[in-house]
Amino acid sequence: MTYVPFQRREFEYDPQVGWSAAEHDLSSTFTVLIDGIVGLENFTAIDVGCGRGRLALHLAARAARVVGIDWDPSQIDLARTRAEELHCTRVGFVCADAEQIEYRDLVAGSPVHLVAANLCMSSAIMARAYRALAPVGVFLFEAFHRSQWQETGILSRFAWNEEDMAACLRELGFRIEYLGVEQDAVRFRGKEEFLQSGLVSGQLREKWERDGRWAGLLDSFQREGCRLTVRGHLIVKAIKEGQT
Ligand SMILES: C[S@@+](CC[C@H](N)C(=O)[O-])C[C@H]1O[C@@H](n2cnc3c(N)ncnc32)[C@H](O)[C@@H]1O
Repeated sequence: MTYVPFQRREFEYDPQVGWSAAEHDLSSTFTVLIDGIVGLENFTAIDVGCGRGRLALHLAARAARVVGIDWDPSQIDLARTRAEELHCTRVGFVCADAEQIEYRDLVAGSPVHLVAANLCMSSAIMARAYRALAPVGVFLFEAFHRSQWQETGILSRFAWNEEDMAACLRELGFRIEYLGVEQDAVRFRGKEEFLQSGLVSGQLREKWERDGRWAGLLDSFQREGCRLTVRGHLIVKAIKEGQT
């Protein structure tokens, strides 16, 4: 197993540039792992929690067939529109709860060679990925790590740590080929600069004010300086072992 325990980058906030760039792209580690999949051009792939379809469309340019699932109909509409704009016919989108359906049913029971996900992961999704994948099928995903927004003092219920993730995958019967943690943090010269950055604003700020994250963050600014881990992700490539 390739295990990269910790890669942390810290950036000084630059008001001229802001902070939006990387957050809308798939990570370079993730795309390198995708590009390294042997035989991808013949693969049938599922993108779990596909949102507007950025990962599904990325895969559709490389794989034989891709189905994206999301339970939010507005996201599915956006993904379908984008696929039409790109004249991409190898991708389809289904509105469904990824923790309730079986992924093989989405491809009429034909073999699934790749289950991928970007920032939508749970033990129920892992179990379904395992059941759907053909032997030696690839499970590739990026998930929230517990360091995401750690300064707020409140962990997301979707956040994982390395040990729990590895144990859950092994218990299901996956062999882990790659498990890495990547973090990006932004440092501000003071609370005012943070507020002006708009990094946490609008609905996100309202939510943080309601759930206590906002107070936790301001406390941490006082204790440890003005810094926010804006990206804390686990990136995993695992292979299904055993027979179906
Ligand atoms: C953080 S977004 C990531 C979207 C997309 N993967 C991307 O990278 O742009 C998480 C997505 O997972 C979807 N999602 C969360 N839980 C889900 C579930 N149980 N079934 C289907 N979709 C789900 C949400 O609707 C949302 O679109």
